[in-house]
This record gives sequence, structure tokens and C-alpha cells, in this order.
Amino acid sequence: MADHRADSVRTGRDRRVLITGAGGQLGRALGAEFAAESDLVTLSHEDWDVSFPPSDKLSQGGFDLVLHAAAWTDVDGAESDPQGASAVNVGGTGHVAALGAPMVAFSTDYVFDGRKREPYVESDAPNPLSAYGRAKLLGEAAAGPHAWVVRTSWLFGPTGHNFVRTMLRLGAERDEVSVVDDQRGCPTYVGHLALAVRELVDADRPRGVWHVAAGGDCTWADFAEAIFEDGGIECRVRRISTGELGRPAPRPPYAVLRSERAAAPLLPHWREGLRACLAELADLDEAL
Ligand SMILES: NC(=O)c1ccc[n+]([C@@H]2O[C@H](COP(=O)([O-])OP(=O)(O)OC[C@H]3O[C@@H](n4cnc5c(N)ncnc54)[C@H](OP(=O)(O)O)[C@@H]3O)[C@@H](O)[C@H]2O)c1
Repeated sequence: MADHRADSVRTGRDRRVLITGAGGQLGRALGAEFAAESDLVTLSHEDWDVSFPPSDKLSQGGFDLVLHAAAWTDVDGAESDPQGASAVNVGGTGHVAALGAPMVAFSTDYVFDGRKREPYVESDAPNPLSAYGRAKLLGEAAAGPHAWVVRTSWLFGPTGHNFVRTMLRLGAERDEVSVVDDQRGCPTYVGHLALAVRELVDADRPRGVWHVAAGGDCTWADFAEAIFEDGGIECRVRRISTGELGRPAPRPPYAVLRSERAAAPLLPHWREGLRACLAELADLDEAL
């Protein structure tokens, strides 16, 4: 029998919301943004490995909304274990979709090949260069027609593995860091993304693919310089090429995302996101 729960989303404070990958950087930000929901269920990797089907208890969970933030995010690791990446990012997304609830699935700018020189919009044809990008693209299909598929880019936040935290650590240890200057994207603060996701869902915007990334764009080297400047760290940035870095997975040289859809959520500029993240990190330090 068809399950029609996925066709409409409940708004308001009395809905039952599930977050997968709740221990990740986006999962945590979503947890904070949706914390006021009366019935929020947060599951980390240990609670549910999504590469396995949901338990009967989860399947009967009666969720009004699922925010699927669990993913294999090791872009280089996916090159040597593409099946492992697919089990999580394709199979796992299918398992989450099988819960039958309205769902937000997250995807990536890495579904594009980066040959364009103007922003990628939702109607542009994907052509992933890497095993990670291919698995995320198949994951979009596995999310099904009832999902909002939110493609975003270069995520950072106060927890987890991300470029801001890596640069803050390296900048404190060294006088100079070498950073790639031939990849351009939109560094997106997870707090801003989580708010935009709530706007998308609460307004019950049409399902399908949405590009949701920070305003502005830059290269990784520009981003590193901004982190040192705003973080008050004296460290030089040596601008290098992707080839010099020699990572296993190819990345799109140009991955700026913009939306062509009516009423798409607009995020603040990446530099504003950086400042918000640094302020959040300072608060966390004080609290320790
Ligand atoms: N990071 C980026 O720059 C970026 C850019 C564009 C799109 N995205 C997408 O945004 C989403 C969130 O990414 P993120 O940056 O928050 O990643 P993240 O910090 O790596 O979080 C991913 C979470 O998923 C968990 N996880 C991994 N395998 C799992 C499995 N089999 N079952 C259940 N949980 C599992 C991880 O747990 P463990 O750490 O314990 O394994 C981690 O807590 C992902 O869909 C990602 O593809 C990310």
C-alpha cells in the first residue's frame, strides 16, 4: 500500500523530527536549529549505521520529517573504496527514504565537473569527476521524489573535520601554509545552512533539487587568508595548484552554486559565515 505521509509536511512545534548523522558538523547544526521541536530524535553513526536497513522500531517511528545528514564524506577515501562510499551514500539514503517520511537529503557541488565559469544552477547537467561525486549523485536519486535534495558546498562549522578548524590548527603551528588556489567555491557555514533548511521545510517548498550555498565565492587560498585575518593569526598563505597538492580524488575547479528556483533561501556571504563560526568557536573555548 502506498504511503502518503511523504506528500505533505507538518509544520509547527508538534512534529516528530529525525536527524541521521547527528554527530557530524551539519547534523549538530541541524540539531541546534530544530532543538525547539517537541519531539526531536537524533541518531549518530553508532545509533544507526544507515548502510543497514532501519529497525522495525525506526520504521514504525511515525516521523513527520527526516533530516538525513549521515554520509560518507571522505572524498579521497571514496576513490579506493567506491563500494563503501556507495553503501552509505546510495544504499543508506535509500534506507532513510524507506522510512516514508518527508525527507531532506544533502548533496554536493562535486556532482559537477567544474568546466563552467558561471554559477551552477539546478538545471545544469551533473557530471561528477570522483567516486564520491558519483555516489552522491546516485544518492540524490535514491532519496526519491518526495525529498528536498539540498546541494551545498565547502561546509564548515565549529566541530568536526573542516577547513576552518584545520587552518586554525596549522596557522598556530607554522609561519606558512600551502593552499590550493585553482578551485573556486562557496564556503558555507553549517549554522546558516541549517536555518535555510528550516525555512525550506517550514514553507513546504516544492520537493526536488535546491542549490543552497553561501553568498560570494573564493578559492581555498582566499578562504585560508580570511581565516587567518579574522582569526588574528600571523601565517602566510602560499598559493599552489591542485596538481601540486596531489590528492587522489579530482575536484571541480569551479563549483559555485546558485539557485534558479523561485523563493530559494538566500544565505549570507561566506565571510559572514566565517565570522559567525569563529564567534561560536570562541564561545566554546570560553565554556571549557
Ligand atoms: N563537508 C562538506 O564540505 C560538504 C560539502 C557539500 C555537501 N556535503 C554533504 O553534507 C552532508 C553533511 O556533511 P558533513 O560535512 O556534516 O559531514 P560529517 O561532518 O563527516 O558528518 C557525517 C556524519 O555521518 C556519519 N556517518 C558516516 N557513515 C555513516 C553510516 N554508515 N551510518 C550513519 N552515519 C554515518 C559520520 O559519523 P562518523 O564520523 O562516526 O563516521 C558523521 O557523523 C553530507 O551529505 C555531505 O555529503 C558536505
